Amino acid sequence: MEQKKQTVLDIRAKKNSGSKISMLTAYDYPWALLVDRAGIDIILVGDSLGMVVLGYQDTVSVTMDEMIHHVKAVTGVVKSSLVVGDMPFGSYNVSVKKAIKNANRFMKEGRADCIKLEGGMIMAPVISAIVKAGIPVQGHIGLTPQTASALGGFKVQGKSAAAARALIDDAKALEDSGCFSIVLEAIPAPIAKMVTEAVSIPTIGIGAGSDCDGQVLVTYDMVGLFDRFTPKFVKQYTKISETISGVISEFKADVENGKFPEEKHSFTMKADELEQLKKDLSD
Ligand code: KIV
Repeated sequence: MEQKKQTVLDIRAKKNSGSKISMLTAYDYPWALLVDRAGIDIILVGDSLGMVVLGYQDTVSVTMDEMIHHVKAVTGVVKSSLVVGDMPFGSYNVSVKKAIKNANRFMKEGRADCIKLEGGMIMAPVISAIVKAGIPVQGHIGLTPQTASALGGFKVQGKSAAAARALIDDAKALEDSGCFSIVLEAIPAPIAKMVTEAVSIPTIGIGAGSDCDGQVLVTYDMVGLFDRFTPKFVKQYTKISETISGVISEFKADVENGKFPEEKHSFTMKADELEQLKKDLSD
């Protein structure tokens, strides 16, 4: 049975009903198809694209054009998941006007359902302006990879009482500015629980313990397709890269040993046409 398309209202309602929200990344047609078919609530076309698909060192150099290209590939196939387009570094920290312009591109060109951007209280004016422009916004606080260098690296956030208090204040500011949900990345589980209790919008955790209203993972980490590092918070369900490498080696051996292609992979033609050709060539 086909599932109904998820809306931001459905996602918000899940917090009240107590049903957990599932969210995964996808960046292209085959992955979007699989994630959507599995009934995952939210697909994030994350700027993690830069690292796991495009092979960049970090997410900072990901461009709007690259994001739009991949969002289109995802929204073209998704039937039920809510699709979030992740605003890349530099697309919303220059001016409110530029932020609205770029958020509009995600909706008009990418056909995303909403956008996500990183940052706490300081981003409140940008978020309210985008929300007022009619675009739903998902917030993202804690470890914010785009500004990891300002945070001193990819580190767990909110570990002191003061930093934890700031995170709670950030979450409240995001709720007040109109976010429909907030991603909490790499923060201590008890703080994620406090943040979750402090706001009426859903929190979706990644490295933030089990008390968030939902959980998100980067699919390439989850299936073992990203080889550079695997964060502690990732549950790696399989090492698909080993299966793929095995298949590639098998193909190479089959080609070299003449085992591929077999007759079933080849095309034939009518015997009399073949005979005619041979005759023509020998004349
Ligand atoms: O870009 C991304 O994949 C993200 C997740 C880590 C939440 O922002």
